[in-house]
Amino acid sequence: AASPLMDSRRSVLLLLLLLLLVATLMVAAAAAFLEDDVVLGAVARLGKGANASILKARERHLKGTVKLLFQPAEESGAGAKRMIEDGALEGVEAIFAVHVSHQHPTSVVGSRTGPLLAGCGFFKAHILARRAGADPVLAASSTIISLQSLVSREADPLDSQVVSVAMVNGSGGDPAAPLVLGGTFRAFSNASFYTLRRRIEEVMTLQPRVHGCEASVDFFENQSFYPPTVNHPRMYAHVKAVARALLGDAGYRDVPPMMGAEDFSFYSQAVPAGFYYVGVRNETLGSVHTGHSPY
Ligand SMILES: *[C@@H]1O[C@H](CO)[C@@H](O)[C@H](O)[C@H]1NC(C)=O
Ligand SMILES: *[C@@H]1O[C@H](CO)[C@@H](O)[C@H](O)[C@H]1NC(C)=O
Ligand SMILES: *[C@@H]1O[C@H](CO)[C@@H](O)[C@H](O)[C@H]1NC(C)=O
Ligand SMILES: *[C@@H]1O[C@H](CO)[C@@H](O)[C@H](O)[C@H]1NC(C)=O
Ligand SMILES: *[C@@H]1O[C@H](CO)[C@@H](O)[C@H](O)[C@H]1NC(C)=O
Repeated sequence: AASPLMDSRRSVLLLLLLLLLVATLMVAAAAAFLEDDVVLGAVARLGKGANASILKARERHLKGTVKLLFQPAEESGAGAKRMIEDGALEGVEAIFAVHVSHQHPTSVVGSRTGPLLAGCGFFKAHILARRAGADPVLAASSTIISLQSLVSREADPLDSQVVSVAMVNGSGGDPAAPLVLGGTFRAFSNASFYTLRRRIEEVMTLQPRVHGCEASVDFFENQSFYPPTVNHPRMYAHVKAVARALLGDAGYRDVPPMMGAEDFSFYSQAVPAGFYYVGVRNETLGSVHTGHSPY
């Protein structure tokens, strides 16, 4: 079967020590998974190590069709959501993504079943005084305290969540200027993520009223509002089996979930997905920095 590659919207292919290993893994994963008429999506994540030309050179080993997605706006801008809206997943039956990780040594593949990365949202509220004597600073203070109880007193302690106010910008004494509160929230299930969003909005709009203030909240839903990344049990099992077959039992490890987020989550909500890491850590070579490090 043919393997039509999608038009590359972006071809950021960073030089990566593990280029060949990654490509081999992707081909092996695809070849072992595909049957005729199955369409597989594959996404090269941070590290962008999946050299499409290596995969293309081995297309005769593939039994189905592989679509490669090179997408913009992965860190912010919900690129995957827009790709889906533009039809990137049409006919796709399963999707895989590989992401380099400095936490695991080279020759090691890591993944886990179920939730792997958190759902991640941001919020920003503008608080304004609405009567004489109203104090947006006091309103903001009591709003921050109330937000603390969403995780500590409402969430299931076994269902990890975060609500963090990370920014307060005062009005500088100008009573007409708004006080701005900003922060982030995380959760590992779609239901918890949306519940947090609803409760944050309630607290941030209602609590300031206690103090004679008015508030509006923005959740930046078109830019940075990513649901959790969840691996499908069958795709996870497949990644694990292929990694072990290629690298031996020591070449695969289950990894803990992380509070970070991925816009690959949008794909994982739409079709069965397998997201995995390929270790790039090598202390001898000084390869110990995060994927975002400029060094
Ligand atoms: C990708 O692989 C091809 C074929 O092996 C090679 O010629 C090319 O230089 C590689 N590109 C990058 C960016 O590594
Ligand atoms: C790290 O790099 C060194 C030097 O190239 C090499 O000898 C060693 O095998 C590498 N370690 C791993 C785990 O790949
Ligand atoms: C804080 O508010 C001031 C006044 O409105 C504004 O000039 C400044 O850019 C704001 N800073 C941040 C980090 O939003
Ligand atoms: C968000 O994006 C959708 C389309 O994906 C669009 O219809 C809507 O107007 C956008 N909202 C804002 C506030 O930009
Ligand atoms: C996540 O929850 C939202 C809000 O309840 C809902 O609209 C959406 O369909 C859910 N997504 C999935 C994959 O269940």
